[in-house]
Amino acid sequence: MAVKRIAVLTGGGDCPGLNPTIKGVVTRAADYGIEVLGLQNGWKSLVGETPIYTPLTVDDVRPIIKQGGTILHTSRTNAYDKKHPEYLTNLVKNVDDLNIDAIVAIGGDDTLSVASRLTKGDGVPHPVPCVGVPKTMDNDVHGTDQCFGFDTATTLAVEAVQRLRDTADSHNRVIVLEVFGRKAGWTALFTAVAADADYVLIPERNPADLEGMMAKLREVRKRRNYALVVVAEGADHPDLDVWAEEIAKGLNGTRLGEAAVEIDSFGHPILKERRVGDWCAYQIKKELNWDTRVSVMAHLMRGGEPTLVDRILGARLGIAAADYAHEGKFGVMAALHGSAVEPFPLEELTDANGKSITRNLSPEWLQFADIIMK
Ligand code: F6P
Repeated sequence: MAVKRIAVLTGGGDCPGLNPTIKGVVTRAADYGIEVLGLQNGWKSLVGETPIYTPLTVDDVRPIIKQGGTILHTSRTNAYDKKHPEYLTNLVKNVDDLNIDAIVAIGGDDTLSVASRLTKGDGVPHPVPCVGVPKTMDNDVHGTDQCFGFDTATTLAVEAVQRLRDTADSHNRVIVLEVFGRKAGWTALFTAVAADADYVLIPERNPADLEGMMAKLREVRKRRNYALVVVAEGADHPDLDVWAEEIAKGLNGTRLGEAAVEIDSFGHPILKERRVGDWCAYQIKKELNWDTRVSVMAHLMRGGEPTLVDRILGARLGIAAADYAHEGKFGVMAALHGSAVEPFPLEELTDANGKSITRNLSPEWLQFADIIMK
């Protein structure tokens, strides 16, 4: 079957590099005479009774390689949300009505898991062929060596630490910077190393080694009046939930509103609300009696113009995704392997129980950080 019309969507959290990818898809599709529809707001565009989309031409995407965010907008809508059985029926009807031959889904493991299931025909009247493009500034999608968004986000976090250093030094303080990084510590570890921070807490080393951190900070204090700690939002410790509940009751007068953490439609807790950075700062102040402050990068990391690395990577992956759609190579994502872009099967993103596989920092990266962060 010749592919004549494809649709492209962006799902999950935005990150720099999405627009370069969209540009890659549309410009390459034009080479094959394939029409492109831009689906608005991720899977949400197709799960309602009326699809929300806009045709995309080369003229539309010409200037977007340098833009942050996504011109298609995004959402965390899950087409397989059990609370909405009508979603899949609507989705297939919309795809058929719009004569969409294939969908290019640009997203993290949640968005790609939907693409994988649709391609297989899981729970739908007929398969909906999809091609994926992995994205997340967390850099933790399995099957690819790097995700766009990571370079821009981490470059911003490095700059933030450099600025915090001035204040920490001026005020003789410890400053803790909390960064995104739900299941993997890529952004935290790379930020800490590249900004010469003193300590880093990451999910790969849960539960957090508080004693190790205090020992390091004591040692730093002998030679310097300030210290810098980077903590990934996914860092954890058995005391953290107890602490959060205490704070929620109003102890210490901190700004934590509620201990209960909201859950998104893919079942993930919104980790920023756990305030692991606050917890870390509280422990440092209590143990070392050292004036401590916290900054939270959160969504500041996800905005802004993509770096050179993210522009080129996004555009390359977008072009490859359009190639795969043209060739009828469905159920794969365009992945970076070394310096080459290659197809990687979407079904291999999950384990035998259907759980997403996280690409964590390898022992080599942890050793690298230990060596350099002395
Ligand atoms: O995109 C991944 C991520 O940045 C995580 O690190 C973070 O937990 C989450 O998104 C925040 O998502 P939202 O924008 O929905 O608050």
